[in-house]
Amino acid sequence: MSNPDIYLTMDAVSKNFGRFTALAEVTFQARRGEFICVLGPSGCGKTTLLRVVAGLEKQTRGKVFIEGRDVSSLPVSSRNVGIVFQSYALFPNLTARQNIAYGLKSRSLSRQAIVKRVDELLDLVGLRGMGRKHPAKLSGGQQQRVALARAIAVSPDLLLLDEPLSALDAKVRVMLRGEIRQLQQRLGITTIMVTHDQEEALTMADRILVIDQGRLVQNGTPRQIYDKPATPFVAGFIGAMNFIEDARKIEKGLYDIGETHLSVSGENGTGRLPAGSRVTLAIRPEDVMLKRDPSVSNLLQTRVEAMEYRGSMFRIDLKRQVSEGTSFTITADVPAETVRRLGITPRSTLPIHLPVDRLRVYEAGKGS
Ligand SMILES: Nc1ncnc2c1ncn2[C@@H]1O[C@H](COP(=O)(O)OP(=O)(O)OP(=O)(O)O)[C@@H](O)[C@H]1O
Ligand SMILES: [Mg+2]
Repeated sequence: MSNPDIYLTMDAVSKNFGRFTALAEVTFQARRGEFICVLGPSGCGKTTLLRVVAGLEKQTRGKVFIEGRDVSSLPVSSRNVGIVFQSYALFPNLTARQNIAYGLKSRSLSRQAIVKRVDELLDLVGLRGMGRKHPAKLSGGQQQRVALARAIAVSPDLLLLDEPLSALDAKVRVMLRGEIRQLQQRLGITTIMVTHDQEEALTMADRILVIDQGRLVQNGTPRQIYDKPATPFVAGFIGAMNFIEDARKIEKGLYDIGETHLSVSGENGTGRLPAGSRVTLAIRPEDVMLKRDPSVSNLLQTRVEAMEYRGSMFRIDLKRQVSEGTSFTITADVPAETVRRLGITPRSTLPIHLPVDRLRVYEAGKGS
């Protein structure tokens, strides 16, 4: 029985190019109306995944289902998808109107019906009055709006966007981000958007799929991905993360980082590791607290090595001497007001507190 809430199912999809594995056993589902971002570094397989979903590329193994129907062998024409490609590829010799109308021509619509639909679409993407312009006369952001209008012209059930914003400057990108999200919600269209911009994924997505070297390494909401990254790779790829290497497990919830023990509550599935196991502890810079109260647990003496001014806060590198010749560095994001109030300067000694519930534990050597 198929679940009516699920629009798309990818079941253990692999894609090889010759001997190279571009996708390895990728499994996930997209709910109807959901906005999914596929995030990962260059070359990790994002475009390949989108092309397999669209039917532009046939998977080597595994299956693709749309509304419970096996479409694994069906071509793009029978999947009702709208696509905005990585390089936006408008037809340069056609006007904005003609570009948008392109997919409508093959449908049996009257001339007037097409004109009306294109007018609607131009309005929808904020390009009223620009229909007669050729792509060369439009800005990057306007061209991307045309590409988007062209993709949704045929009322697809699934919208696939491959880095639609990456070629645009920062301001336009942020504006279009909001517009795409609103449009997607208004139309209620299931959308998969590829990006390698973590901020884009965190702000736009209902759910993020993180891909590393063809493997799906985490599938979760933006908050889950940011707060509970499944692997050191995810932790380091999305946001900044401090890693304390060479830690050793003493018992469940207690770890030795050399001269000091740290208590941890979020053990990330490492709770089962035997005592003595080598682990890596991790904490985000904004979770590193400044505390002088000696009764607090997880307190470390550190020395300020470097301070970088970032407007509302300072990013401060803190050195922790473990023993003679061994030390590690922890980066803390400290509000500018706190820095002023405490008079923190380079070489100050600074006690820091690592909250038990903000520390993560990873098995050493796993998934970095
Ligand atoms: N047609 C092909 N033939 C051979 N190798 C390919 C082909 N298409 C993609 N690849 C390889 O598969 C891997 C994944 O490519 P893909 O285009 O999916 O990456 P991506 O995550 O979209 O990267 P980017 O962020 O740079 O766009 C790359 O190593 C690429 O070289
Ligand atoms: Mg790509």
